[in-house]
This record gives sequence, C-alpha cells and structure tokens, in this order.
Amino acid sequence: MEKIVINGGVPLKGKVSISGSKNSALPILASTALFPGKYRFTNVPDIQDVRTMLELLKILGSEYTFKNNKVEITSIKLNKDEAPYDLVKTMRASVLIWGALLTRFNKAKISFPGGCAIGDRPVDQHLEGFESIGYKTTINSGYLQSYAASAIGGSFSFKIKSVTGTENLILASIMGDKRTTLLNCSLEPEVDDLIKFLNSLGACIKRIKEKIIITPVSKLKKQTKSYKIIPDRIEAGTFMYLACLPKNELTISNIDISALKDVIMTIKQLGAKIKQTTTSIKITAPSKIKPLRVETNPYPHFPTDLQAQLMAVLILGKGASRIKENVFPNRFIHVAELRKLGAQIELQGNLAKIQGIKSIAGAKMQASDLRASAGLVLGALSAAGQSEIFRIYHLDRGYEGIDNKLRAIGAKICRTKE
Ligand code: EPZ
Repeated sequence: MEKIVINGGVPLKGKVSISGSKNSALPILASTALFPGKYRFTNVPDIQDVRTMLELLKILGSEYTFKNNKVEITSIKLNKDEAPYDLVKTMRASVLIWGALLTRFNKAKISFPGGCAIGDRPVDQHLEGFESIGYKTTINSGYLQSYAASAIGGSFSFKIKSVTGTENLILASIMGDKRTTLLNCSLEPEVDDLIKFLNSLGACIKRIKEKIIITPVSKLKKQTKSYKIIPDRIEAGTFMYLACLPKNELTISNIDISALKDVIMTIKQLGAKIKQTTTSIKITAPSKIKPLRVETNPYPHFPTDLQAQLMAVLILGKGASRIKENVFPNRFIHVAELRKLGAQIELQGNLAKIQGIKSIAGAKMQASDLRASAGLVLGALSAAGQSEIFRIYHLDRGYEGIDNKLRAIGAKICRTKE
C-alpha cells in the first residue's frame, strides 16, 4: 500500500483543471451494458473506480479501450448477467450494473453491495423500486437475483432520495413494457447527465423536478458520436476549499459553476475573495477564516461529499462552527484523524462542533474513505511541518492524479510505499 508525505504550511498558488465527474462516468459506463452497441466517451476521469467499472463490464463480455481520458466500449458481445463479489465489494457503484442487466436480459445476479466506512449502504430503495415496476428479487448466499416477473413499468416513490437508486430505476425501465413514473428522485447533476446520454441513444426520459417519467422504447441507437462527461463538482469543491486555506490563491477551471451554488455560498461565508465565470473560479483565501454553520442534504443543497473538506478549513476558523451530516449515518471518521493535527472538534451524533484554532501541526493519519481522505490532505497541506497519510488508495478511487495537481501549485507532496 502507498502513503503520501506532505510538508504543509506552504502557500499554494496557480491553476487547477478539474477532471470529468466520477459519479457521472460510473452510471453512464454501466448503462452501456443495457443494449448491444459501440460507445465513445471523452473527459472520463482516469481514476480507480472507472477502471473497476470497465473491468466489471469486461468480465460481463464488453470490450473497451481507455486512453487520454477517452473510452471506447462495445457491449455487443456482453453475455453475462452476474456481477461478481470481488468487484462489487470494492465499489458500491457496481450496483448500477443491476438495472442495466435487468433491461438487457430481464434478469440479473449481483453480489450484495457491502457497506463501507460511511455506513452500511442499504439497497432497500433499489429493491422496492424494482419490485414496483415488475421485477422480483430473491437473496441467495450473498447474491441478489432479480428477474422480470410481469410487464415492466409502473410507478414508485422513493422513501429517501437515492442517487444510484434513481439511476438504477431509470436503467431498469427505459425499454420496459409500459410507462414508469418515479417520484422523490435525486436532483444531482450526475443523474441528469445519465438521462441526457440515454436520451441521446433514443430513450424517452423526462424530468419535472423530482418526478421522472420514462416512456419505454423498443430499441436504442447502436452507437453514438462521442459523449463528453460533465465536470466533477466534488473535485472542484475540494480545490475550492483548498484555495480558502491561509495564503492560498487558486484558479479552478473546467467546472460547471451552476452545479456549485451552495458550495460558493459557503466560500463567500468563509470570507474568501471570488472571481467567477460559468466555467472557472478564482478564489483568494481570506486573511481570517470566518466560522459558519452548514447542514449536508441532497442536491441542490450542501453536498455530503464536501463535508470533510469544508471541515478541514473550519478547524482554522476564527470562532465556533457547526456541520450537521444529514445524508449518511457515519460520515465523521475523518474527525479522529483531524484531531491528530490539533483540531478542536466535538461530536454529538450527526453534529460536529468545531472550535477554530490559530494553527495545526503535521501528524500521521489514516485515510478511511474517498472524501474523508481529501479532507485529510487539505488538513496536512495547511498544517505546519510534515504529515503522512496512509492507505491513499482511497484517494485514488476518485481523484485523478491529485498529487501531480497539488505539486503543480506548489505543494510539497510525494507518494511512497507505506
Ligand atoms: C451516491 O451514492 C454517490 N455515489 C455518493 O458519492 C454520494 O455521497 C451519495 O450519492 C449522496 O447521496 C455515486 O454516485 C457513485 P444514496 P449512493 O443512495 O447512491 C440511504 C463519493 O465519494 N439509502 O444517494 O450510494 C443511504 O444509506 C460517493 O463519490 C437507503 O437508505 O447514495 C444514504 O444514507 C460517496 N436505501 C442516503 O440514502 C437505499 O436503497 C443517500 O444514499 C439507498 C440509499
């Protein structure tokens, strides 16, 4: 396993270009399994989770090339309807192959997607949704086996907003027998990117706010011109918070500013100076970081995936801040690690109370999940002295070449064997 070593406290200045969205690339790549075709994508982030998804599709029979952020994939020979345990266990998003295989074969067998550091990650909404549009599922020795038991289509209202739940129900119904109406759907931009891609293939999916109506089609285009994945708003937010740390000034490009409204609001509350266009933002760190209170909620509200990164800024705030985590049951694992830097954080259930302090000092820390590890990197970059972050594979799952991007703006960072 690898670790990164950071000598912090160095002012970071310069330009950062944001990669394509992990959480858009994953459902869109999974969707290529639902119909035999040849597909091309650009702006695909070169990250571990994308490579895992491509390997999963290859095991099912697809063939692909992936170079310079371009993917060419053909699912014509895809002939397996089973997602194996050893891949599903490494990546929750493998659950997205479920809906695609149901459309392709009217049946699918996927290993129960396990929990991870941020919670047990249930799939009850996926199951209930599939049930309500005509699929039946049995659970056999750790596998979910679903099949079309009647005409596919119907209506379902999500009890809780679920991004991959919404995506899976779309994938399982676009070539059904009758119309599907989904209520209380997720509003994340990544869901809309999947809808846009599927409609470019000839699907008929309409969104009216949290309602999505799928009118089934009998076939889809066998190939498309190149489809460009949207920018990663969570990577963008990660660097935006980095820019708010003392003495930093960054220009972050290749972003969709309209997907970052709530994040920009917090950046302004922190006291940072902002200059923005529709596809870039220049942020100058405030002389003193103002405390703030924020709650995570489904899009368009403040994203849970940026909670750890914002916390890494607030630990140096001038005063008391609060972060309430409303989306996941256990998403404060980074708190124990940030405390090693000297951070003053008190936890009360899903509420973190942060007492800002003047400075923090480097320490050895352990990454636990993708976004928590990004928070630790920000902490280490603003801490005086040397920090080491272990199990950095978590970071590589969702950030393309983050050490190179950080080095390019002046960070003293290197990656070595643990
Ligand atoms: C997606 O995960 C993202 N992953 C997550 O990003 C993101 O944090 C999350 O949405 C935010 O909602 C991808 O898009 C690949 P959910 P997902 O279903 O779909 C509960 C990252 O780092 N729930 O929206 O798995 C669930 O436990 C990752 O990029 C049920 O109870 O999350 C959670 O509390 C981390 N039953 C809440 O809903 C279900 O059937 C939101 O989960 C499904 C979910």
